[in-house]
Parts: sequence; structure tokens; C-alpha cells
Amino acid sequence: MNFSIGHEVSLVYIGKARNLEASFYKDKKNQEFSKGINNGNLISSYGIGDYRLPSILIKNGDGSYCSSFSFHSYKEMEGDYEIKGLPSSHGKGKTLVFSFIDNDNEIKAEVFVSSFSDCSCFSSSVKITNNSGEKITIERLSSLQIDFPFGEDEVYSFDGCWAKERMKHKTLLKGGRLEVDSFTGSSSAFHNPAVVIKNKAGYFGINLIYSGEHKTSIETDGYMRTRVQTGINDFMFSFDLLPGESFHSPEACLFQGESVDEISSSSHEFIKKHILPPFWAGKPAPIVFNSWEGVYFDFDGPLLLKMARKAKELGGELFVVDDGWFGKRDNEFSSLGDWTDYEKKTGGIGKLADEIRGLGLKFGIWMEPEMISQESSIYVSHPEYALVIPGKKPIKQRNQLYMDLTRKEVRDYVVFSVGNVLDATKASYLKWDYNRNFTDIFSASFPNREYLFRYMLGFYEVVSRIQKEHPLVLMEGCASGGARFDLGILCYFPQIWTSDNTDPRARIPIDMSTLLFYPSQTTCNHIACSPNNNSHLTSSLEDRFNTALLGNLGYELNPCLLTEKEEREVKKQTALYKKLRPFLLEADSYLLGDLPFTPLGGEIYVSKDQAEALAIFIQMRKTREKRLRLKGLNPKLNYKIGNRPKPVSGEEIMTKGIPIRELKYKVSKENTDKIGTLRVLIKSELSD
Ligand code: GLA
Repeated sequence: MNFSIGHEVSLVYIGKARNLEASFYKDKKNQEFSKGINNGNLISSYGIGDYRLPSILIKNGDGSYCSSFSFHSYKEMEGDYEIKGLPSSHGKGKTLVFSFIDNDNEIKAEVFVSSFSDCSCFSSSVKITNNSGEKITIERLSSLQIDFPFGEDEVYSFDGCWAKERMKHKTLLKGGRLEVDSFTGSSSAFHNPAVVIKNKAGYFGINLIYSGEHKTSIETDGYMRTRVQTGINDFMFSFDLLPGESFHSPEACLFQGESVDEISSSSHEFIKKHILPPFWAGKPAPIVFNSWEGVYFDFDGPLLLKMARKAKELGGELFVVDDGWFGKRDNEFSSLGDWTDYEKKTGGIGKLADEIRGLGLKFGIWMEPEMISQESSIYVSHPEYALVIPGKKPIKQRNQLYMDLTRKEVRDYVVFSVGNVLDATKASYLKWDYNRNFTDIFSASFPNREYLFRYMLGFYEVVSRIQKEHPLVLMEGCASGGARFDLGILCYFPQIWTSDNTDPRARIPIDMSTLLFYPSQTTCNHIACSPNNNSHLTSSLEDRFNTALLGNLGYELNPCLLTEKEEREVKKQTALYKKLRPFLLEADSYLLGDLPFTPLGGEIYVSKDQAEALAIFIQMRKTREKRLRLKGLNPKLNYKIGNRPKPVSGEEIMTKGIPIRELKYKVSKENTDKIGTLRVLIKSELSD
């Protein structure tokens, strides 16, 4: 990335190179402009004749909204910088900090642009400092702005809803503005913060290290220029700054490449090396057996122990007691916030946890710490902990309200109660759920448009305190499935429950777009029972296993209900997975085909030395031509594909593709889910 500095700072080059350069503006003619990225301003403001969406909108002390920032200075920094209260990437290389001053209003804007020495990503954040003698209000602040001088872009967004998260959509934008944003208070199942933009300069991947409401806007104006901005959604946001105070935006990430695959690889690398908590980044995820889809709320201690015993026999490594073990929780109407043992039901959660450990399994537990049920003891004693608008009947979703994490006493209560549960059960894993979206936003203590941002500060404080106090507990993020799958969550939770949709076929589009930005090791794919509880479709255990291999393997069923034949198969699956796991964790992964738009596709894991690969082929429609191009292999090596006698060159596999005739796509009485899957090991001749 290259910047030229005159009275403004312009982005003049963006490319794969990991360096970050700032050079002083000398002779415009001699500048090396990249494929057209020139005069791209790092920030823009309102009221100075630029009629596109400004990246900064500030209400000044005098009530006006006009800001005129001009370049003041820049400095270079090595290493990380802190964004107070927010998660950010770690292991940064060089950071250039460009300072702009609005002299009329005495406001400073600093743009932090960072590079990463081992990974093709740039990041950007913006800090506003109020040096005036009056209160100002930030009404909009993008973390990243890029201007492109050509106005035709293809935008890939990932939109969905519960059990259908992150469906990939392509929109061709030739004029107007496209906004990919969230209004739920969190990053949401509706529109993920990850966006891909394709234009004449290549492919650009954008993401945001933030779990609250986000907005990416892509605007093409009449001069056929495109302006891209990403940051906090300004719709329900503002922030007051008193004299001397600063506000630092979340960090946005930018990946550049010649293809979607390159964006994908850079994002995977970036997440593995610079987002995931370093302690967990290279650790294999345990094979989880989770109680939820097997028994829901309908269990007691002996039943869970029986399930755990069977889970152990089948090769499971960790047993999770999901919802229903606390307060008087027999259904979703009560007890959130009462994080005490439902002893009559569990027979003593501490004792049960010990017994499960006694079987040789690790113990995991479910909690939903950000929520409170009105039917709970904590609500009776502390109704003020719940987020409501005084005098108004609150809107409930899943019969629950939010804990008001903007209040210190509520944060302390949540940290205390989660800590208590982890201590009492000595749990090694916590499934942290979040099952609703914001409605009644209110605070008497600060402007209400600050609420959602301050909630996120509260949330991040709580999770980082818990993480510090319990560093050995693996935390899995969950939000009615995958409604909060974002880089902010991944800074604390190394893995996320991808979706409540456990039907193999319906899950494929969700997995494919999730894997475009997020590496397999961050997604949790569990094998559920057949017929599937939600879709009622049947599928073979083999198909369920192959699709589960797209992420971390687990089982979401009552293992005691498996037939003997199924038990034998599950044992083989867990044994194979344990063998493959170190390889899967270390490997690079690439998406194959473009499921569900193409009939064939899947994922391939390739070892760093390109000597070995595991391909998961998936068929979703009938097709005559069963040929697929693979990726990530060495064109110069010859590879043995499964049991096929004749090796094929990496070049041929990747350019012409290989026929996959063994892939069976059939709908039968036993398999009503329309899907075919095949798992194939690929080895270079050298690796034998
Ligand atoms: C959410 C989660 C599920 C399960 C239930 C429990 O829906 O996504 O996996 O934990 O809550 O209530």
C-alpha cells in the first residue's frame, strides 16, 4: 500500500506486497499509480463540496456539521496499538498514523493504517480527538475508506436469517449506493460484516473487528467513481466527546487479491495469526458430544451420564450439558440469569461434571450470560439489571430480556456468575449463547444513540475479564446458531457454532460462504440425528460426517439411540478424525466449485508442503459432467488420487480438473436429503 502526501493524503497503490509506504508528493506525473487507484482519500467529511457519503460526520460545538480536515503530519509505529475497550488484531508489523486537523473546529482525526509482515492484509482505524473547548458529537465514523476511480463493482454480501445464515449474494453496482449493514445490535445473521468487492483493480475483501452494528457502504457517483466505507453502523450511533476526549473506531481489515480464493486465503491466514487468541490458535478442537438436539430440556443427571458414557465409548472427548441445567429451566420461559444448579434435575451439576470427567471425558457447559428471564430470582431482586424502557412493556424475544451490560454492577454480576459456574463444574469448555436481538434500547445515563456501542464495550469487558480469569476454558461463541459470527467474537472465542441448521444439504451454502472468510477451525459442524430434527430429511452417516469435516467435528444427538451399526460407524469416524485432525488444523483450505450455484463443489485441505491433501467433494444437483478443478496443489508434482491407479499432475488437476465418478448422488428411501459426498485423500508421489 502506497500513500502520496501533499495537502491531502492519497492512496496511490494497493497490492499484494506487505509493505506500507508513505512518500511525499513531488511530481504528480512521476507517481506510480496502480491499476487506477489514485487520489483516494483516507477520510472525507461533510459540508465541503464532496457530495458522496462522508466517512466522518461531526456535530461541532457551535451546532454546525461541517468539517474541513487537512493533512498535518504522519508518523511510523512498529507493533500493536490499543483501541481502548475494543478487540483488535495482534502481531501488527508497521503502522502509519496520518494526522488531519480541522482547524476551524479544533478537531484531530488520526488514521492508523497497519500492515502484517506474514500475511496479505492491511487494517485501518480512525481516532477523533476533540481539542476544542466545547462538547462535540460524532455522528458517523468509518474505520476504513477507499476511493476507486471506476464506477462498476460487483459486490458479494453474505445475508440470511436464523438457520440460513450468510447466504452469498452478488450485486452489480453501476450507480447509487449499496449498504450492507446490521440493525439488530450485533453483527447479525442478516448481513455479515464480511464483504467482497470486485472491480477493475481486482478483488477486495473487507471485514470489521467488531460484533455490534456494522455498515459497509459502496457508492458509485455520476463521475463513475466508487467510494467504499466500513465501520460502525451510524443509524443508531452517536458519541459525545467533551473537550480533550477521544473516540477510536473499531479496526477494519482489507484483503486484496486477483481472485476470491486469494481473498479467502489471506483472510484465513490473518484470522489464524492475528485474530484468534494466541493460546488457542494452534490447538486442536476436541470432539464434542452436545446434549441439545438429542434431549433438549428433557433430561436428568442419570440420562446425561448415560449419554456421556456412550459418547466416550464412541470416541468423544468432551461432553457438553447444553441449556436446561440451571434455575428452574424446563423450557425457554424462565431462569436466565439464575446461574445456580437445578439440582432436582441434574442431581448436582458439580457431581455430574466429576462423573463425566471420571469417564475420561472433558466437561463443557452452556450459558447465556447476556440475558435475563423475567421469571427468575435475579429479576425479582434486581429488575434494574434488565434493559427496558421505564413504563413501557418490553418486547421479549425467546421470552427473554437483555442484561444491561452498560452498567458496572451488571457486568460484575455476569463475570461473577460465569466464574462461579466454571469453578463449581471445573468446566474446560463454555458454550456462550446469545439468543435474541435488541429492541427496547434505553439509558438514563447517556445519550441513547450511544447505547449499542456502550453495550459492546460492556460485552467485551465481560468476556475479556472471564478469559483472563479462566484462560484454560475453551469458549465457543453461539448466537441462535451463527448470528454473531464475526472477527470481534473470534478475538475471544476461537470457535463459533456456525448455525442451528444441522441438515447436511441445507448446511452447505452456510458453510461455503462462512469458509470464504473464516477458516475451518473457527466453525463447528456437528453430526445430528437422521431424520434431522428441523428438516425431517434423512441422510447417511457418511454424508453427515463428510460435511462435518468442513469444520470442527462434533455430535449433536442422543448417542444412546444409535443402532449398533451406526455406533461402529461413529467409532470409525472419530478415530479417523483424530488421525486427520493435526493435518486439518495445519493445512491451508480452499473452496471448490461455487456451491450451491454449481452442482459440484466442496473443500480441499492442502498441507503446507503441498504433499498431501484431503478433498471433500459435494454434489447438490444432477450433472452430466462430473469434473472439478482442485486448488492449492503443486503444479509440478504428480498426485495419487484416492485409490486410482494412475497419478495425475498437479497442473492437470488444477487446470483441467479431475472426473469424480465415484461421487454418488442419489435420493433413496433411506436418504431423502438430496446430497452426495465423497472424501478423497490425495498424495504426491514424493510423500509415499
Ligand atoms: C440456541 C443455540 C442452540 C442451543 C439452544 C439452547 O438456539 O443455537 O445450539 O444451545 O440455544 O437453548
